[in-house]
Amino acid sequence: MQTSEFHKPVLLETVLNFLITDVDGIYFDGTLGGGGYSEAILNKLSKEGRLIATDLDDAAINFSKKKFENENRITIVKDNFKNIKNILMNLGIEKISGAVVDLGISSYQIDTPEEGFSYRFDSDFDLRFDKSRGIPAYEIINELEAKELAEIMRNYGEEKFAFKIAREIENHTKKKKIRTTKEIVEIVSKVTPRHKLNDTLSRIFQAFRIYVNDELENLKEFLENAIDVIKSGGRLVVVSYHSLEDRIVKEFFNLNSQECTCPPEYERCICGKRLRLKKLTKKIITPSEEEIKLNPRSRSAKLRSAEVL
Ligand SMILES: C[S@@+](CC[C@H](N)C(=O)[O-])C[C@H]1O[C@@H](n2cnc3c(N)ncnc32)[C@H](O)[C@@H]1O
Repeated sequence: MQTSEFHKPVLLETVLNFLITDVDGIYFDGTLGGGGYSEAILNKLSKEGRLIATDLDDAAINFSKKKFENENRITIVKDNFKNIKNILMNLGIEKISGAVVDLGISSYQIDTPEEGFSYRFDSDFDLRFDKSRGIPAYEIINELEAKELAEIMRNYGEEKFAFKIAREIENHTKKKKIRTTKEIVEIVSKVTPRHKLNDTLSRIFQAFRIYVNDELENLKEFLENAIDVIKSGGRLVVVSYHSLEDRIVKEFFNLNSQECTCPPEYERCICGKRLRLKKLTKKIITPSEEEIKLNPRSRSAKLRSAEVL
């Protein structure tokens, strides 16, 4: 399989332009996927440059290990990008020149039935990036009450009919436990008009995926840890696809690009502001119409970047 069949990298040139400031530097690609960004980063780096890349998904790790089998400048680690500090420490690396994460899922994950991320195929309703850890979505669905299920769908999927759907799920799981994506589709279709079904299912799958993988917490921890390991003048680049993720990045960049405003008599800072970053993107950068036409899955991408001071 070609890299572009696994996943078409989004906003690639813009990512490289923000990320790379030193061709001999060490970089971190937290979301390896099909290695689209990693390959392009390596192409920009000199012989001295180095890249550490992580992913949680076995298929992404295996695909990229094969793809880069003759490339000795890359180290591939199956881990969560939030652990950037420990990953680098274990490799004996103190500081890097830049880090990038391209959030969400790859085309391969969406288009492969066994990966279980899409309502278009029947498989276990699992939704974990790393199937060897954590709790699959079908267990969450079977265990939580309607109120909690509705909160997940409302908070992470902005689903207007979250409670109605959650009650239907609860009615079902009281009688019979759910296991598959097909069962979810059947239950949701009972309470959703046909013309809205696909959009509703997309929102629901997205909501449970974010919940099951703790995606928002991963992002917050990653940002906090990344600015400790990026050297002064190095860059942080985040490509997100969900308004909640983008809000986290925006607020983090805002808080870390202002001096603390607490009164001097305060013993400890309570405003959270600290001057550690310079924002490089005042507003989000989005793909061009041309890119969206060539790769419709790029349409919700939002890029932000900042320089570590
Ligand atoms: C949009 S794809 C990345 C595509 C990649 N930039 C490329 O060009 O091929 C997102 C990838 O991030 C991985 N992922 C999501 N959350 C992760 C996390 N917390 N830690 C490591 N990998 C993660 C997913 O498994 C998926 O392979």
